[in-house]
Amino acid sequence: MAKPRPSKTHIGNHELKPETLMLSYGYDPMLSEGAVKPPVFLTSTFVFGSAEEGRDFFDYVSGRRQPPAGQAAGLVYSRFNHPNSEIVEDRLSIYEGAEAAILFSSGMAAIATTLLAYARPGDVIVHSQPLYGGTETLVSRTLAPFGIASVGFSNGVSEAAIRSALEAGQKAGRVSIILIETPSNPTNTLVDIALVRRLANELGRMQDHRPIVACDNTMLGPVFQRPLAHGADFSLYSLTKYVGGHSDLIAGAAVGSKASIAPVKALRGSIGTQLDPHSCWMLGRSLETLSLRMERANMNAAAVAGFLRDHPKVSKVHFLPFLEDDPSRALYARQCSGAGSTFSFDIVGGEQAAFAFLNALQVFKLAVSLGGTESLASHPAAMTHSGVPLEVRTRIGVLETTIRLSIGVEHPDDLVADVAQALARTP
Ligand SMILES: Cc1ncc(COP(=O)(O)O)c(C=O)c1O
Repeated sequence: MAKPRPSKTHIGNHELKPETLMLSYGYDPMLSEGAVKPPVFLTSTFVFGSAEEGRDFFDYVSGRRQPPAGQAAGLVYSRFNHPNSEIVEDRLSIYEGAEAAILFSSGMAAIATTLLAYARPGDVIVHSQPLYGGTETLVSRTLAPFGIASVGFSNGVSEAAIRSALEAGQKAGRVSIILIETPSNPTNTLVDIALVRRLANELGRMQDHRPIVACDNTMLGPVFQRPLAHGADFSLYSLTKYVGGHSDLIAGAAVGSKASIAPVKALRGSIGTQLDPHSCWMLGRSLETLSLRMERANMNAAAVAGFLRDHPKVSKVHFLPFLEDDPSRALYARQCSGAGSTFSFDIVGGEQAAFAFLNALQVFKLAVSLGGTESLASHPAAMTHSGVPLEVRTRIGVLETTIRLSIGVEHPDDLVADVAQALARTP
């Protein structure tokens, strides 16, 4: 019989916090020779206790039947589930206060599998802009030949802007998904999740089908933002970034209610976008230090952003605490509990000045990606967002002067010194 994994969340009446649960939840050492850390279960398949158990496990994993109360679904084959993914899934869902989480082989696999589970030919995906360049390409180009259209909106705090995108979407078909990224990569613009959910409910009554609200929570979650609490159906992740946190793995996740995750999980098993045991194990390791890393990187980011704001060669710093205008400022206070440590800034001059700055950095590494322990710098227009049409880039503020920084856990004085010397060597 499949044993339920331990799930101690309280000491008496005291509820344990996610930071504590990341070290223990969902793993019983006594089931693995007393090993304090879970072993890496390098196996593709699992032995059944009997033919009947094999039949039952297949029924559970395919969703044909639910396991009896208190019993886990049982392990079948590592494309469907395996212990290392289940441990991390349990921990991630508890961090977000969600019923369920599922892991994927990349952030793009998480996003694509979720979209494909909920969009059908003739449907429209309405989405915020900017999106990470790969997501923008997925919704605006890759899905189009499958009969799935898309409409973007770039002001995520304006009811009128979101409404007009939804109206345009409705004219093109059934709006089945509203995909948002907040804060956005790379400009940190915000989308009001509760507002989007209210408009999704309204549209649901009109077209007799409520669009799901999926929020890419890569930039702040789960430590500084929990989209489900604001009305999103899905919190989606590139775990490659802060959750993995060491720039040494590629992974993704979808978090939500059991019911909304079910079709995504079924599609994951069907098309094989599950994450391997070794990367899952590394994610479990990373979750133990997630809040420590994000808190420290936040403090460092505040130091670097503060220095940049006062520099004559910098025209704008897109750091959330510097938001000046309502409703974005009020939304930031309501929706996020920290600024994160990835932000962009615009340098005075053009692409030449931006490239000179990037080439002069000595502590920051010139690389794409974000959320690792080391600080990284990149040029979104020429790199991550180079596939986004120039007209869209200009509209959303991804300019030739825009430089993105992902701040790590180094000493803040060294980061400020590096940025200072690089700006001094910029024409
Ligand atoms: C906000 C955001 N979402 C999704 C992705 C895609 O994630 P992955 O590279 O893990 O597929 C990225 C990657 O940079 C990202 O920044």
